[in-house]
Amino acid sequence: MLTEVKNHTINENKTNSKKLYIQSYGCQMNFSDSEVVASILKKEGYDTTPNPNEASLILINTCSIREKAEQTVRKRISDFKKNKLENDDLIIGILGCMAERLKEKFLEQEKIVDLVIGPDAYRDLPKLIKQTKDGRKAVNVILSKEETYGDINPIRLNSNGVNAFASIMRGCDNMCSFCVVPFTRGRERSRDPKSILSEINNLNKSGFKEVTLLGQNVDSYLWFGGGAKKDFMKKKTDCEVVGFSDLLEKVAKQNPKMRIRFSTSNPQDMKDDVLKVISKYENLCNYIHLPVQSGSSKILELMNRGHTREWYLNRINAINKFIPECGISSDFITGFCNENEQDHKETLSLMEVVKYNFSYMFYYSERPNTLAQRKYDDNVPLNVKKRRLQEIIDLQQKHSLWRNQKKIEKKYQVLTEGISKKSDKKFYGRTSDNTVVVFNKKLTSIGDFVNIKIKDCTSATLIGEII
Ligand code: SAH
Ligand code: F3S
Repeated sequence: MLTEVKNHTINENKTNSKKLYIQSYGCQMNFSDSEVVASILKKEGYDTTPNPNEASLILINTCSIREKAEQTVRKRISDFKKNKLENDDLIIGILGCMAERLKEKFLEQEKIVDLVIGPDAYRDLPKLIKQTKDGRKAVNVILSKEETYGDINPIRLNSNGVNAFASIMRGCDNMCSFCVVPFTRGRERSRDPKSILSEINNLNKSGFKEVTLLGQNVDSYLWFGGGAKKDFMKKKTDCEVVGFSDLLEKVAKQNPKMRIRFSTSNPQDMKDDVLKVISKYENLCNYIHLPVQSGSSKILELMNRGHTREWYLNRINAINKFIPECGISSDFITGFCNENEQDHKETLSLMEVVKYNFSYMFYYSERPNTLAQRKYDDNVPLNVKKRRLQEIIDLQQKHSLWRNQKKIEKKYQVLTEGISKKSDKKFYGRTSDNTVVVFNKKLTSIGDFVNIKIKDCTSATLIGEII
């Protein structure tokens, strides 16, 4: 009898409550997409929950960039086997890059998955969910040349109410030979600047203090009325053509009290006009993430990066000229096909020239169907890839420490973003050049701009005092 009553309650919960648990892996774009998905499903009556055990819909937004990223996702999926056993009505869906890469195959490989949906198909989610409720598996992995989700106001997930992302474009046309993104996210297209400005205006009104404009290659942003960038020349348009520097200027002018960041810049496309606009507006942060991947021109060519070592260093000089206090970070890949010790030394020497504030560093992971996988031999042994990786990590740490030490006794404006992980008596925040600062709380609140004098540092963090 008791169990019957219990069952009844559970059934009632199931029919009345639509609870969504959504988890994101990978790049900031995925996290931003999950906020679009949450908004689409809110209209269908779904509220988000931080607890997968009370969810009626579990969505995992996946990453394919390296093999390890895919393994992490698969492990997470297997965690939900018990939820599926306990609740027949639970729907499990896979979003993002793995969905796009593996398509229907995913359903065969992971039996508990009910739906697979690619990054351009999220508007179709309500329909696919209905389909799974009829007992059928559902797949939509169609890529689009137009979709930017421009009209959708994202629901901010796990937000501190201070920092937010706004996606300004989708896809990538660059075809770096190691990279799976052009295959999983399709052709490059830009979002209507009006909808970007309106989203940021809403953030401003809701009290957000910082927004990061997102794209795989922001310097390539081009609004000409919509559609794939490669069709720009073909399309006749009477609308105002807006490039990235124009967009930055519009955003900066409209929101003088907000900090504006962006990611990611591409060395091949980064022009001086963007640097000039950054130097002109106080609220455009003095920070550029400019991934180089390798310091060897030979490897850059094999990677199809579209620039040489010299071109890259010329861009670094331009940054230092227009924005003298600019923080610069990079991404590196060690052990790409045919990389020899000399190439690796060139990466180390490039790092010595630039002395990055920080970097994201990886060893090469071959991805199916990329140009490198089809044409080149993944011929650097794993132990060599890892040893070279450790060498660049060690050097980067030295440079980060050097950069931070130069800040001691100087004053910076810091945006307070949250409570320090190590002590609840301290806040953390960031300088305009994107360095993390920890300081005593005093009378400040999260979201406040404070002036801080730097007293000490580690390679990762500055330690300061409010002045
Ligand atoms: N332009 C993108 C790059 C996305 S991928 C952006 O918005 O950041 C992020 C980084 O992952 C790349 O810069 C590269 O350093 C790394 N990466 C991409 N493919 C990789 C692979 N096959 N193996 C190892 N690292 C890779
Ligand atoms: Fe990938 Fe190169 Fe684009 S790293 S996301 S193909 S700029």
